[in-house]
Amino acid sequence: MIKIAPSILSADFSRLGAEIEAVEAAGADVIHLDVMDGHFVPNITIGPAVVKALRPHAKKPFDVHLMISPVDPYLEAFAEAGADGLSVHPEAGPHVHRTLQQIRKLGKKAGVVLNPATPIDALDNLMDLVDLILVMSVNPGFGGQSFIESQLKKIEEARKRIDAQKKISGRDIVLEVDGGITPATAKRAIAAGATMLVAGTAVFEGGPERYAANIAALRG
Ligand code: DX5
Ligand code: ZN
Repeated sequence: MIKIAPSILSADFSRLGAEIEAVEAAGADVIHLDVMDGHFVPNITIGPAVVKALRPHAKKPFDVHLMISPVDPYLEAFAEAGADGLSVHPEAGPHVHRTLQQIRKLGKKAGVVLNPATPIDALDNLMDLVDLILVMSVNPGFGGQSFIESQLKKIEEARKRIDAQKKISGRDIVLEVDGGITPATAKRAIAAGATMLVAGTAVFEGGPERYAANIAALRG
């Protein structure tokens, strides 16, 4: 069953706690938090203090997508703030292998994120270290962008690598897709092998009374 991770980037920022409670009641499986620094990506969002303040409002896991550089100095703060998983871009530091090791050491799920222009080969030598692979189907930084079609092939390739890894180690890796997810693109991402979908606009549009229907529509 596909997991839906609402991105709170599209929520009402004046009442984030209530928004998280509302999407959980509406069927969200995971809460996706986008951390941006105005340097690695051209937008600024939230830091560990906000993640910590939101933690008591949620029962579901916090999937924290770090779009910051450098990233290593902040891993511990986000772990302590209540992240269950931390996902990092290989471009955010000189040693992504070490960054993933560090996340594991903190007892958190380690995720690697592939930007639209990042080749699938970025996963070489990382498969035994990751719990989650996140394929970006938009360039990171903003909600409300259109799904980039070329990423479907990358999702398929990531699925092949995950299945091969599972044969070797018996360990499953989550294949998450983030950006431009609508009911139509959700169907295609799932067909390509995704097991978790991030959605901001498609979940939060129409306000709280629409959240349950919006989430159900993404499950197909
Ligand atoms: C973009 C973020 C996404 C964003 C998705 O940098 O990583 O999580 O919130 O927004 P939608 O679903 O509107 O494309
Ligand atoms: Zn994200």
